[in-house]
Amino acid sequence: MPAGPGSAAPMTGRIRLLICEDSDDDAVLIVTRLRRGGLAVDYERVQTEPDAAEALRLRPPDIVISDYAMPGFGAEEALALLRDSGLDVPFILVSGRVGEESAVALMRAGAHDFILKEDLARLVPAVRRELTHARSRQQRRQLEQQLRQTERLDSLGRLAGGIAHDFNNMLAVVLGRADLMLAELPADHLLRADLGAIREVAERGAALTRRILVFSRQEPLRPEKLDVNEVVTVTKEALGGAVGEDVEFVTDLGQGPLPVEIDRSELERLLLNLVVNSRKAMPHGGRLTITTETAQPAANAGPMVRLWVADTGVGMSASVLEHAFEPYYTTDAAAGTGLGLSSAYGVVTAAGGEIALRSQLGVGTTVEISLPMVDHADLAPPGAQAEPARGGGAEPLWLPGPGGAVTGEGPGAAGRCRVQGGFAAQ
Ligand SMILES: Nc1ncnc2c1ncn2[C@@H]1O[C@H](COP(=O)(O)OP(=O)(O)OP(=O)(O)O)[C@@H](O)[C@H]1O
Ligand SMILES: [Mg+2]
Repeated sequence: MPAGPGSAAPMTGRIRLLICEDSDDDAVLIVTRLRRGGLAVDYERVQTEPDAAEALRLRPPDIVISDYAMPGFGAEEALALLRDSGLDVPFILVSGRVGEESAVALMRAGAHDFILKEDLARLVPAVRRELTHARSRQQRRQLEQQLRQTERLDSLGRLAGGIAHDFNNMLAVVLGRADLMLAELPADHLLRADLGAIREVAERGAALTRRILVFSRQEPLRPEKLDVNEVVTVTKEALGGAVGEDVEFVTDLGQGPLPVEIDRSELERLLLNLVVNSRKAMPHGGRLTITTETAQPAANAGPMVRLWVADTGVGMSASVLEHAFEPYYTTDAAAGTGLGLSSAYGVVTAAGGEIALRSQLGVGTTVEISLPMVDHADLAPPGAQAEPARGGGAEPLWLPGPGGAVTGEGPGAAGRCRVQGGFAAQ
């Protein structure tokens, strides 16, 4: 899940400090203390309300330290600004002259600690403690948000899966009857063309419903042991220049093989979908990176294979980020089906993995996938699929390209995908 703007930087990283203080000397003293205490602090000093408001809005800090009274500004106003900003970051009063009552009132209003300038020894432990608390509040919020999202996607999946399942059965009848009639009609019968059109549309409908079934994990997938690095390499080769000359497409593959158990054609489709999304997000070019590595997330958990697809594109707003995994959610009204990320979600979760998005407007998007690593033994050789990709994998996937068809039908798994110019969706 993406970190909110008010996230506390880990104490191993740099800490952004906003100091509301009219004395430069005092600010330097505070920062020196913190740095001597082992905290890597970058700070900004403000002494007026408008400057404080602007700093909170444009450069959200990890912590605020405020003097009690400055000419025309003070800790009460600073605290109110912080509250209004919606940031959940610690606020510590560091002041020389303040009565007990005022300090208590400020603590009641939400300040986290009060330190006298004469007693700065307490500063470093207080800042460390409050940053730790802020970080655990943030982690808890993220977990709650993740849980809410998983619940929402699960219930959407059940609903959409039920509809798709029934709809698929009806389409199967349409297709079956059309086939029967085609078999009965003489080769030169006028109605053959109409029946062909009915068949084609019904097949496209069936392909769409299959993608919904993948999202809702009702489509029986065919997991096999395969090397993620190999699939990434094949996919990159198949895409070739289709991402456009103005996009630098690089892969940074961890030492392999990286074996996972997943449906090969769905993993290929997933990668292609993510690459297409990134391509669409970089209309003026940029950099697309696919990275893989192994990771051991926790001592008691098994090893995982991690895969990132990162772009330097337009990024997503908070509301796009919130809905991006939902089926049929798209901001590309002209050509998007909104099924790319939702089926990616289904494929990854069906394989026991996790998928998350990180994105910042104007900076780019990273899709993070982690899959349980399996034994190296009996890895399926590349392209060793017994039968042609079914369902989703067999449909043509239309990719934005520099113009014209780029690859044809090839023997390699990803070669099955038709790569064409334009942004048409299926
Ligand atoms: N890399 C990205 N950068 C910015 N926005 C993205 C990115 N990937 C997805 N999105 C946003 O998430 C939405 C949903 O993505 P998804 O792949 O599910 O559907 P789509 O791309 O709109 O349609 P389709 O996949 O059928 O072409 C997109 O419409 C877009 O707004
Ligand atoms: Mg897409």
